[in-house]
Amino acid sequence: EQFNSFTAGNELKPDSLLDYNKCISDPKYDDNPQVTFRNAEYLLDFAQEEGLSMRGHTLVWHSQTPRWFFTEGYSRDENAPLVSKELMLKRMENYIKNVLEYIQSNYPGLVYAWDVVNEAIEVGDDMPGYYRSNESYWYQIIGEEFLEKAFEYARKYADPEVRLFYNDYNTEQVTKMNAIIDMVEKLKAKDLIDGIGLQCHIGHNSPSITDIESSIRKYAELGLEIQVTELDMSLTDYTEETLMKQASRYKRLFLTLKYLKEKGFANITNVTFWGLSDDISWLNKPGIPNYPLLFDQYLVQKPAFWGAIMHPDIPLN
Ligand code: G3I
Repeated sequence: EQFNSFTAGNELKPDSLLDYNKCISDPKYDDNPQVTFRNAEYLLDFAQEEGLSMRGHTLVWHSQTPRWFFTEGYSRDENAPLVSKELMLKRMENYIKNVLEYIQSNYPGLVYAWDVVNEAIEVGDDMPGYYRSNESYWYQIIGEEFLEKAFEYARKYADPEVRLFYNDYNTEQVTKMNAIIDMVEKLKAKDLIDGIGLQCHIGHNSPSITDIESSIRKYAELGLEIQVTELDMSLTDYTEETLMKQASRYKRLFLTLKYLKEKGFANITNVTFWGLSDDISWLNKPGIPNYPLLFDQYLVQKPAFWGAIMHPDIPLN
C-alpha cells in the first residue's frame, strides 16, 4: 500500500555482485569481471512478483567494492599491485555491461534508474574539483576521468528508458554542492546523465529545510531529474515529544518537496527512505538505538509517517 519502488540496501553493490571464484577461474576474465546475482535474486523476484520497480544502487563506488577488483590477477594479497588505467577501464566497462545486461534481460523494465556513480566528491580530500581520492581506487587508478567513463559505459549498455543518476550525501553543503554541480554540468553537456540523487540522511535539527530547499532549486537548474534517494532522519532520543518534532520536520520536508514539484521548480521524480522500520536502520549503533524512519519495529506507523503524508493533525512545530 505504501510504496511503488524500492532500493536494495546492499545486494546490488559490487561486493555483493562480483563473483570472485569465477573471476579467477580463467585468465580470459582478467578484463571481464564475472558477476552473480545469488544475493540479489530474491529482491528482484519480489519486486517483479509484487509489481514494484527498483532503483539500482550502485555501479561505481569507492566503498563496498573489494580491493581485489582493482589488483593484478584479482589478487587478494593486501600488497598486490593495482592494475593499469587501461585494464581498469576495461574491467569497469565489462562490469557495467554484465550487470545491466543480466538485469535487463532477466527483469526487463524492473530497474528504472541507476546510481551510476556514488559519492565521488569529498571536499576534505582537498583535490582539484574536490574529487574523492584517499579512499577511492577508481580515482587513484583512472583519475577524475573515471566519472565520465562510468556514465559513458552505463549509457552504452542501459536500455534507453533507464535513467542514469549521480548520487551523494550532504548535498546541501555549499562547497560540496558547487563541486557536484561543476562535475554534473560536464556530464550533462555530453548527455550522459539524467538525474541527481540526493541521499538526504538528515538529523532531527539540521540541515534546515530552507537549506535543503535552496540546494534542490540549484540542482534543478541543471535541468535534470531530482530524486531523494536515501531519506532518513536520525533520532536517538525517543520520547513522545521528540517523535512529534520528527513528524513535524518530515511534514515540513514533504510540503517543501511537493511545493517545489507542483510549482515546477524541481522535477522531483522519487523519494525513497533508507529502510522500512527503525529496527533495521543502518543508523542503529550497539547500545545506541536510532529511530529515523516511518515505521517502528512492529511495522506500526510512527508520528513520522503521518508527518510524511502531510496529515493535517501533525502541527508544523
Ligand atoms: O553481510 C555481512 C555479514 O555477513 C557480517 O556478519 C556482518 C558483520 O559486520 O556484516 C554484514 O555486512 C554489513 C552490510 O551492511 C550488510 O548488513 C557490513 O558490515 C556493513 O558495513 C554494511 O553497511 C552498509 C553500508 O552502506 C556500508 O557502506 C549499510 O547496510 C547500508 O545501509 C549503507 O548504505 C549507504 C549507501 O549505500 C550509500 N549512502 C550511505 C548509506 C548509509 O551508510
